[in-house]
Amino acid sequence: MANIKNFAVTPVKKEIYTDNLEQIRNKILDLCEDYMVERGDQYIIPGQDFIPASSKVLDSSDLKALVESSLDLWLTSGRFSEKFEKELAKKFGSKKSILTVSGSAANLLAFSSLTSPMLKERRIRPGDEVITVAAGFPTTVFPIVQNNCIPVFLDVSLEDYNIKVEDLEKALSPKTKAVMIAHTVGNPFNLEKVSAFCKKNNLFLVEDCCDAFGAKFDGNHVGSYGDFATMSFYPAHHITAGEGGSSIH
Ligand SMILES: Cc1ncc(COP(=O)(O)O)c(C=O)c1O
Repeated sequence: MANIKNFAVTPVKKEIYTDNLEQIRNKILDLCEDYMVERGDQYIIPGQDFIPASSKVLDSSDLKALVESSLDLWLTSGRFSEKFEKELAKKFGSKKSILTVSGSAANLLAFSSLTSPMLKERRIRPGDEVITVAAGFPTTVFPIVQNNCIPVFLDVSLEDYNIKVEDLEKALSPKTKAVMIAHTVGNPFNLEKVSAFCKKNNLFLVEDCCDAFGAKFDGNHVGSYGDFATMSFYPAHHITAGEGGSSIH
C-alpha cells in the first residue's frame, strides 16, 4: 500500500510515467485508503461505532469505488450500473431492474409501465382506482395522480404505520386496478394478506421499498412479492448511491 506521506508529489512525472495505466490506477486507489485512514473513518465497527438513523456511512471501499468509476471517465451509466442492475434483479428474484434518477422516478416508472397498451385489457387507464394509504410518502401517490388515476386512501395501523389490511375489501370497486403502498420506515406491511387480496381481485401490486431495502417478510425480501418493487438510493436509505433509485420487475 502506498504511504501518503512518502508519495512524491514533485516531481511526479518521473515516477508516474514509468508506470503503466493499471499501476497508476492502483496507486490512486491505494491512496484512497490512506486518505480514509488520515480522516480516521476507514472502518465502521457494527455495535461500536455510532451509525446515524438517517445518513450515509461511507468507508474506504466506498471511496475507492467512487474514484474507480471516475477514473473510467465514463460519465453515464456503464459497467458499474449494469452490474448493480443485474445484482439487484437477482437479489429480488426478478427478471429486470432498471436504475432511475431517484426513488420517486422509480415509482413513476413502475406505475406508468402498468398503463402500457402492451398489457391489453389489464392495463391501467385514466379514471381507474388505485388503493394506497392516507399517511404515506407523497411520491408513492403522485404517479397515480400523474397518470390521471384516482387514489383511494386507506388508514394506517397505529402499531406499525402500515396499511390496515382489514379495510382492503371496503376500498374495492369495479374500477380498482392496483394497490401501491410503501413498507413504512423499514417495517414490512402484511404482504401475505395484501398479495392474496391482489391475486384474488386481479390487481397489480407495486411495493414501494424505498425505505425498506433488505427487510424481510416471512423470510422473503420485501419487493419480491409484487409486480414491481421500487428502491431509493438517496443517502437517508439503507444503501446509497448519492441519488438514484431502481424499478425492479
Ligand atoms: C417510501 C418512500 N418512497 C419514495 C421515496 C422517494 O425516494 P427519492 O428521495 O429517492 O426520490 C422515499 C424517500 O424517502 C420514501 O421514503
